[in-house]
Amino acid sequence: MKGLESKKVFITGAASGIGFATAQRFYEEGSTIILIDLPSLEETKLSEAFPERMTYIQCNVTNKDDLLKVKEEMEQGFDILINNAGITKDATIGKMSDEQWDQVIAVNLTAVWKLSQMAAIQLKERGKGGCILNAASVVAHYGNFGQSNYVATKAGVIGMTKTLAKELGKSGIRVNAVAPGFIATPMVMAMPEKVINMMEGKSPLKRMGRPEEIAAAYAFLASDDAQFISGTCLNVDGALVIG
Ligand SMILES: NC(=O)c1ccc[n+]([C@@H]2O[C@H](COP(=O)([O-])OP(=O)(O)OC[C@H]3O[C@@H](n4cnc5c(N)ncnc54)[C@H](O)[C@@H]3O)[C@@H](O)[C@H]2O)c1
Repeated sequence: MKGLESKKVFITGAASGIGFATAQRFYEEGSTIILIDLPSLEETKLSEAFPERMTYIQCNVTNKDDLLKVKEEMEQGFDILINNAGITKDATIGKMSDEQWDQVIAVNLTAVWKLSQMAAIQLKERGKGGCILNAASVVAHYGNFGQSNYVATKAGVIGMTKTLAKELGKSGIRVNAVAPGFIATPMVMAMPEKVINMMEGKSPLKRMGRPEEIAAAYAFLASDDAQFISGTCLNVDGALVIG
């Protein structure tokens, strides 16, 4: 993908699922990757997967002190931030606790805003443009039973993406979101088999997506081929959502 070989990329939630596949893709493209996740480096398979051009920051994106480590690393210069980390804490409205609401908002929305703010300040100061990519979800477009917290965050991420694209465009910073459909990652495979079968049946392509297929969208949107794309949300969902 055009231009990624010389880029330095931050990826949150990189130890698993879509984040890991995205780290793999950018690594293969020759990028220098800075990976962020909760476990210690020893607990991940990241060192073996990425023997060079990789820095790991053990960081809870909801923790102010942890985020200072990311800020320090950003101050060394970088080009792309991918806000991928996300969680679910599902329950219908009557059963959802304040904690379930607060935790999902903290990881999926507030941390995306905080990291985007840190990135925007650094990228503007550096004056070479840049790119912020955010993980949305197709459920932001049509809602999802038992996920009022999660859907609120993903719809919020799309609105934030459009707003930041407007605010940062004059600095040459592009901001886009990717809305995955139903992707085979640990987050999804933890769902009941019945739900998985039902979702596969609903998809016009009759299958789940692969994490690499989301990684490919991030790579395209970050590349020089997407230089005129900003403020958009790209559905990568096998036509699950049309309209
Ligand atoms: N898998 C899907 O079908 C699907 C669909 C739509 C959107 N998404 C979104 O894509 C993103 C990745 O999803 P996934 O399926 O790969 O999930 P996953 O659970 O496989 O991976 C998420 C990663 O984020 C990390 N993480 C969670 N909380 C964190 C925190 N506080 N600080 C730092 N890291 C944290 C986890 O440790 C994990 O490594 C999420 O934002 C998710 O909402 C996924």
